[in-house]
Amino acid sequence: MKEAETIDDYILTHIDQENEYLQALYRDTHVKLLRPRMASGHLQGRMLKMFVEMIQPLQILEIGTYSGYSALCLAEGLPEGGMLHTFEINDEQEDFTRPWLEKSPYADKIKFYIGDALEKVPELGLTFDLAFIDGDKRKYIAYYEMVLNQLSDGGYIIADNTLWDGHVLETPHPNDHQTIGIKEFNDLVAADQRVEKVILPLRDGLTIIRKRK
Ligand SMILES: C[S@@+](CC[C@H](N)C(=O)[O-])C[C@H]1O[C@@H](n2cnc3c(N)ncnc32)[C@H](O)[C@@H]1O
Repeated sequence: MKEAETIDDYILTHIDQENEYLQALYRDTHVKLLRPRMASGHLQGRMLKMFVEMIQPLQILEIGTYSGYSALCLAEGLPEGGMLHTFEINDEQEDFTRPWLEKSPYADKIKFYIGDALEKVPELGLTFDLAFIDGDKRKYIAYYEMVLNQLSDGGYIIADNTLWDGHVLETPHPNDHQTIGIKEFNDLVAADQRVEKVILPLRDGLTIIRKRK
């Protein structure tokens, strides 16, 4: 095995590899889409799949599909009979993402909705065992309260980007609504006795939240 150049390289050569389909999606995301860094990628994707295998949820909610990378990883870990409901507000994303989801080996485990999760998720009337929050950073508290209402007792929420490139340590500019949104979310969760929580400094920060029974 050749010497790794960085810790990130080292990690990626010592964990499960992405399958060819995910590699192709990641490449296509970088070639065709704006802001490709939003896609979860190799390490976080394998982590999401493993979380699903550990939790064994039957119903998963994802807020923020983008190119579908994290959706495919969540669906990959789902047990027989499980379903992922993934929401994307940007209708211009549909032409790219829907074929990637529908041609994947997990197509029958994924329902892809175009629309604002804050409006559409309550209309579904489902109870979720796991939710992955990865939408608009300004709306994290609204997503959180909505999801908690529709989460099973003992269910999990995984919130992405909760370290926000380290900006959580700074006093944000009053116009920096994304940093303000993430910091307010983190403070709310930290004080919230309805849940248990840990923050993993993986990639841009993942907060793992468990609703108390
Ligand atoms: C960071 S990207 C998602 C990346 C994807 N989860 C992954 O890891 O590969 C965030 C996405 O959330 C979408 N979004 C923002 N607000 C939303 C909302 N209220 N409902 C559904 N999607 C939303 C954005 O359009 C964007 O495509």
